[in-house]
Amino acid sequence: MRGLGFAALSLHVLLCLVNGVSSRRTSSYVRSEFPSTDMPLDSEWFATPKGYNAPQQVHITQGDYDGKAVIISWVTPSEPAPSQVFYSKEENRYDQKAEGTMTNYTFYDYKSGYIHHCLVDGLQYNTKYYYKIGTGDSAREFWFQTPPAIDIDASYTFGIIGDLGQTFNSLSTLQHYLKSGGESVLFVGDLSYADRYQHNDGIRWDSWGRFVERSTAYQPWIWNSGNHEIEYRPDLGETSTFKPYLHRYSTPYLASKSSSPMWYAVRRASAHIIVLSSYSPFVKYTPQWMWLKGELKRVDREKTPWLIVLMHAPMYNSNDAHFMEGESMRAAFEKWFVKYKVDLVFAGHVHAYERSYRISNINYNVTSGNRYPVPDKSAPVYITVGDGGNQEGLAWSSVIRSRTTPRSGRRATATRPCS
Ligand SMILES: *[C@@H]1O[C@H](CO)[C@@H](O)[C@H](O)[C@H]1NC(C)=O
Ligand SMILES: *[C@@H]1O[C@H](CO)[C@@H](O)[C@H](O)[C@H]1NC(C)=O
Ligand SMILES: [Fe+2]
Repeated sequence: MRGLGFAALSLHVLLCLVNGVSSRRTSSYVRSEFPSTDMPLDSEWFATPKGYNAPQQVHITQGDYDGKAVIISWVTPSEPAPSQVFYSKEENRYDQKAEGTMTNYTFYDYKSGYIHHCLVDGLQYNTKYYYKIGTGDSAREFWFQTPPAIDIDASYTFGIIGDLGQTFNSLSTLQHYLKSGGESVLFVGDLSYADRYQHNDGIRWDSWGRFVERSTAYQPWIWNSGNHEIEYRPDLGETSTFKPYLHRYSTPYLASKSSSPMWYAVRRASAHIIVLSSYSPFVKYTPQWMWLKGELKRVDREKTPWLIVLMHAPMYNSNDAHFMEGESMRAAFEKWFVKYKVDLVFAGHVHAYERSYRISNINYNVTSGNRYPVPDKSAPVYITVGDGGNQEGLAWSSVIRSRTTPRSGRRATATRPCS
């Protein structure tokens, strides 16, 4: 029996993949309510590192399919600099070197710093690596731990966070996560909420990058985008989608044969993790649809018994907030999730925690009359992970106070959506 331990640490979820043991972690922590205000730009939590042009906003993510590589990213704020990473298994040695790339972008009147992405590959499993970026007085040193080899018995602990933002509540979430023992974060979208500022002020992308660095520099966060990453602002002349996100956050999409950094898969320890983009095309024949069809066939449950899907907008949601927004993706993909027996689907977007039974609604075809989800042992459990702390506050009201299907002979009642 595979055991699953997870618990809502109120706002983020810890998922422990433990073979043979069922573990559970809980916390009595309950975060304060609305309003949540962003930390001021001069907050100590956004402090810039010492030294001219010192690397900041350091973050790492998995760099390949199986966990033997990382992509290390950072920003040099003042001028272009080498995209080099020096690293070693021994502290203070740094005798290996990897070379990356540099990019920059503008968004309306915001001009980004110089954004570096460097792939460090050929690593050994279960090994601590030390790395150094920047030069002279501005150099900075960090470390990370590689995961165990892909194996049916490999134990691992993921943290799960979404809708984080940069308020005092976001800080509380991150501080609780740092104490949790999580080894890597599955991030379900909506990162900085910079788009809530005038002209989507990129300065709030920079402050967010410095805020989360205390975790992201030391362990990989598996990124996914949300609606706050779209940043489609034709009124400002910004007509491409996901521009800041795509410049700042790398994903190892080519390693899973994806054609876009927006959707991809990684395998880590005993988990196969599929990242889907709620705001990229996904209907039949689109690149994301075609990729997912192929990726599900590559899942090998003998090696990765855990099959986990991440998306931003939940496919099942009984909240007023964002009701039905995941319905189109459900129509496109739910059948496959049942066929391939996905274990867990994690989503964010709705700022409240919710967990389903194993249910499916795949027999509905307009004429069949099968309009309601039914218990289905092959179906995933759907978890909306609970709000990370962003400015927008919590979602409270349920669309469906009580609803039972006609099969049980009771009538449905619903409250009226109020936003
Ligand atoms: C990127 O940086 C270079 C060098 O400073 C600068 O010339 C260029 O205009 C920048 N590009 C963008 C899109 O900001
Ligand atoms: C819809 O489902 C019904 C009942 O299972 C079936 O008879 C019918 O052929 C289906 N229609 C389509 C278009 O698949
Ligand atoms: Fe969202």
